[in-house]
Amino acid sequence: MKVLNFGSLNYDYTYQVSHMVRPGETLSSSDLKVRCGGKGFNQSVALARAGIAVSHAGMVGEEGDMLLTFCRNEGIDTRFVRSVPGKSGHAIIQVNPQGENCILLYGGANQQNTREQTEEVLAAFGPGDILLLQNEVNRVRELMEEAWKRGMRIVLNPSPCDEKILSCPLEKTDTFLINETEGCELSGAEEPEEILDRLLARFPQSKLVLTLGSKGVWYGAEAERIFVPAFSVQAVDTTAAGDTFTGYYLSGVLQGLPVEETLRRACAASALAVMKEGAADSIPKKEEVEVFLRIRETAH
Ligand code: RIB
Repeated sequence: MKVLNFGSLNYDYTYQVSHMVRPGETLSSSDLKVRCGGKGFNQSVALARAGIAVSHAGMVGEEGDMLLTFCRNEGIDTRFVRSVPGKSGHAIIQVNPQGENCILLYGGANQQNTREQTEEVLAAFGPGDILLLQNEVNRVRELMEEAWKRGMRIVLNPSPCDEKILSCPLEKTDTFLINETEGCELSGAEEPEEILDRLLARFPQSKLVLTLGSKGVWYGAEAERIFVPAFSVQAVDTTAAGDTFTGYYLSGVLQGLPVEETLRRACAASALAVMKEGAADSIPKKEEVEVFLRIRETAH
């Protein structure tokens, strides 16, 4: 079974701020770092660091070399990443002293994927293969429809959650990975259990993973419900915590681990990610996750 992640590749401009800038305010930042990121990119890095072979597809601009080199150094297959004239995608990220973030996206090359490209990429995959998607590239709808026809399993992280994602054939999703805000938007409910119930009533064939940040994570499929609490850690930067979770969750599924163990590993990986600055740079390797889990288990 092969794994294709068709997703964004961004340069992240991360500014350290005392608080998130308010309308009309001019705010000085105390630090700027430019690093590799993008929800798609981060999720491929998480999969690779979790030990899963992944092909990444997408588009970079003229200055995309650093993104491609990073992928290749992680062992990610970049045959399906194309270059176009113009700017790569980028994100302006504010991080406050609590490690929380605000993200402003510029799509750039991520929004220039073509029909010819999506068809060519998907032609290399078939029944049972995984298509991992987020909502930072164009053509998500087409990708879902075409992958479904090919018998691929669609794993969707509908982030950012906007009108475009609502018009996609969401019922074709095998597994949704969503956070609380996305869960509220998709279901109209506010309580986690209500979000699960409503979304699973609407998408009865799907599995749903609802992440709640420092509170933990819910899993639902048909009538089954599992809750796993988060690990308590000191957060310095929560950027890419969800992406780390997604990559590690999917790796556990692909390795055939039980759901509860998969959720626990993914929680451990994202706990490690929030203790480090950056997006892809903060994603732990599987050995680090194993050590963390052993330490936490012996502490109890
Ligand atoms: O999920 C974190 C990511 O969101 C960042 O790396 C940024 O590029 C945005 O895509």
